[in-house]
Amino acid sequence: MTPSVENAIAAGADLLASSSESAKLDAQVLLLNILQKPRSYLFTWPEKQLTDEQYQAFQCACERRLQGEPVSHITGCREFWSLQFEVNPTTLIPRPDTETLVELALECKVPKNAKVLDLGTGTGAIALALGSEMPSWDIIAVDRIDDAVALAKRNQERLAINNVTVEQSNWFSALKNKKFDLIVTNPPYIEHDDVHLHQGDVRFEPLSALVADDAGLADIKQIITQSRDYLLSSGYLLIEHGFEQSAAVRHILNKMAFINVSTVKDLGNNDRVTFGQWP
Ligand SMILES: C[S@@+](CC[C@H](N)C(=O)[O-])C[C@H]1O[C@@H](n2cnc3c(N)ncnc32)[C@H](O)[C@@H]1O
Repeated sequence: MTPSVENAIAAGADLLASSSESAKLDAQVLLLNILQKPRSYLFTWPEKQLTDEQYQAFQCACERRLQGEPVSHITGCREFWSLQFEVNPTTLIPRPDTETLVELALECKVPKNAKVLDLGTGTGAIALALGSEMPSWDIIAVDRIDDAVALAKRNQERLAINNVTVEQSNWFSALKNKKFDLIVTNPPYIEHDDVHLHQGDVRFEPLSALVADDAGLADIKQIITQSRDYLLSSGYLLIEHGFEQSAAVRHILNKMAFINVSTVKDLGNNDRVTFGQWP
């Protein structure tokens, strides 16, 4: 006999306890994805018995999680800024920390019909969150990886956020002669030998989304240097970075003649986003 919803989750949580710090939540998310039900279902129908097919699919999902695969890769989706994003191993799974960058972007004093650029858009998370909040903004989102561009386009179409255009570009290469009021980016910024690359969900994400030369600062330096040719006067550049990189990023921005340079902390109280304005 197959278990009830409640018992399946308890068994799943037990199985995952040795490999995940969020075993119960993981089991809940995996089962809800199979049942295609909202979270409230767990509390309204705890005694509902699973079908054979549902139970088999749940066992299979728990096995994959036990091997370390991120929950979002198993379900194929992740929530960011209250929007549902398709995710896959071609780019980063959107992180809650990145909502700090979105919040800061929304506070920037830009024209109503601002021209906005998201560099290294991945799933499209930042660009689509901004597009959903600011329908009058004209937003371009670019990524170097073709499969990430295709993924961001699918997310844009499914979410029907029509003020966001997704394009393939190696940083600014496809943006000749364009100027922006606001450039946002969450670029790769992890050092090649960082131990975190071998831990947890990060093991399943591509190095193209994570790693940069020069102590993790190579892409940030390139973006800061090049963005001076793509920002309108008083335009903003907002950069997400590692929690120990803020002083270095402020230093580069100041050296490159940006003004009003400052850093903002994320919800975990870590330095997370540094910004400046082009004079
Ligand atoms: C840290 S991920 C951020 C993804 C997404 N913006 C987010 O916050 O969830 C960095 C992204 O930058 C892209 N990327 C790396 N190098 C790039 C380059 N030279 N030009 C454009 N995109 C690049 C990667 O493919 C990846 O999608």
